[in-house]
Amino acid sequence: MKRALVLASLLMPLPAAAQTVQTGGALAVRWCTACHVVEASQRLATDSAPSFRTIAARPETTAAKLDGYLSVGHTLMPDFSLSTVERNALVTYILSLREKP
Ligand code: HEC
Repeated sequence: MKRALVLASLLMPLPAAAQTVQTGGALAVRWCTACHVVEASQRLATDSAPSFRTIAARPETTAAKLDGYLSVGHTLMPDFSLSTVERNALVTYILSLREKP
């Protein structure tokens, strides 16, 4: 809870949506780049994990599905024990990578 408050207050001056995307991007770079290509400029990652852009581009990807996926542990992925705020920020960030038609 405390961590969530600190995260939220750090980025206070930005509008809520932009702030969430930024927070999620920062978390993704810190925690997810070991296996996933998180940003377009990034090259190295493992072959077994899809890039965040690929995940975002799938028509079946929804905020609810991503949230559900990140809520439980996985054999191939470490359990990050993400808070609700962190999960929400990561989901918002991943979906922000979806190409606008
Ligand atoms: C140790 C490597 C590793 C790390 C670190 C990691 N992942 Fe993953 N992730 C994987 C692998 C491998 C898969 C594919 C596994 C599968 O399909 O079951 C995956 C799958 C996923 C999926 C589902 C993709 C789909 O096919 O629907 C999401 C969403 C995801 N990761 C998000 C994250 C986020 C967010 C982080 C950072 C908080 C993260 N991952 C960190 C290895 C990792």
